[in-house]
Order: sequence, then C-alpha cells, then structure tokens
Amino acid sequence: MTTKTTILAGVLLAGLAATAAIGDSHVSKAAQAAVKARQSTMQLYAFNVGQLGAMAKGEVAYDADAASAAAGNLVKLTSMNQMAAWMPGTDNATLGDMTHALPAIWESGSEIGAKAGALSEAAVALEAAAGGGLDSLKGAMGAVGKACGGCHEMYRAK
Ligand code: HEC
Repeated sequence: MTTKTTILAGVLLAGLAATAAIGDSHVSKAAQAAVKARQSTMQLYAFNVGQLGAMAKGEVAYDADAASAAAGNLVKLTSMNQMAAWMPGTDNATLGDMTHALPAIWESGSEIGAKAGALSEAAVALEAAAGGGLDSLKGAMGAVGKACGGCHEMYRAK
C-alpha cells in the first residue's frame, strides 16, 4: 500500500497525465502484461518486416541470408500461440489509451483468428521467397502487408 501510494504520488508529481495514471492503477497486472506482450509481438513483426521493406525499396542492399532470416523470424512469431496476450477484457473500451485493440476482437463473429491465420500463411510464402532474389522477395511482400493492414483496419483503433 505504501509503495503503491508512493509510486502513484511519484507519477502525479512527474506531471504525467493524472487521469491516465489513476486509470492504469486499476488495471490488473495480468491485463497490463497481456497488452504489453501483444504490442511487443507487433513491434517484432514490424522490426522484421521493416528490414524486408527496406530491401524491397532499395534503401538497403538485398541480402539473401538477412532476408531469409527476417522472413523466418516472422514465421516463428506468427506461429506462437498468442491466446494469453489477447485476454478478454483488454480492449480499448475497457482499458482506455493503453491499448488500441477494439472490442470487436472479442465479439461473436470476430474474424481475428482468420486474420492472424492469413498473416501466418503469407509469412510462410514470404520465407520461401525471401532468399530467392530481390524480385522474388518483392513478389511475396504484398500479401504480408495486406495481412497486416487487413487486421488493423478491422481491429485496431486509429
Ligand atoms: C490478427 C490481427 C493483426 C495482424 C495480422 C497484425 N496486427 Fe498489428 N496490431 C493489431 C492490433 C489489434 C493492434 C493493437 C494492439 C494493442 O494496442 O493492444 C496492433 C498493433 C500494432 C502495432 C503497434 C504496437 C504498439 O507498440 O503499440 C504495430 C507496430 C503493428 N501492429 C504492426 C503489425 C505488422 C507489421 C503486422 C504484419 C506483419 C501486423 N501488425 C499484423 C492486430 C494485428
């Protein structure tokens, strides 16, 4: 209790948005950890796709090994079981600004699983293509970008 009070006081003194800080203190540790885990996974998606995108755009020289490695990482990341990170009750209507995950993810008829599966499939095709030359890499990038965007459009708040 003392620690919590001290931390809260510290946060308020630090001049952070007071409302957000107080709101977050009511969010369970499990919910916070789940949000952090999925956002971190997304960052790893972006890190690996970013390397491939830089090669595709000619910002970085094409490197077959590096391309294969990044695409392989994306396959591994998308084949993780991420259920725990998408814990019910962790949408942005419930948690506020700490997440951009829309409630529709958890509503009946949600296509989030299919959207995740589409990315997984595109990543497998990307891994097969990435080491086969720049044109081969470029040819497989579009489907990955579409899979990312397709899910964001429906399930991520702007
Ligand atoms: C199955 C749906 C889905 C797919 C597929 C998907 N995303 Fe996301 N992404 C989300 C959702 C939902 C959020 C918001 C998560 C949150 O804030 O809790 C998000 C957030 C992000 C973020 C912000 C993370 C942060 O730190 O807040 C990045 C970056 C991102 N996605 C990149 C990607 C990339 C790159 C791909 C494709 C390789 C991708 N995403 C595929 C649903 C998806």
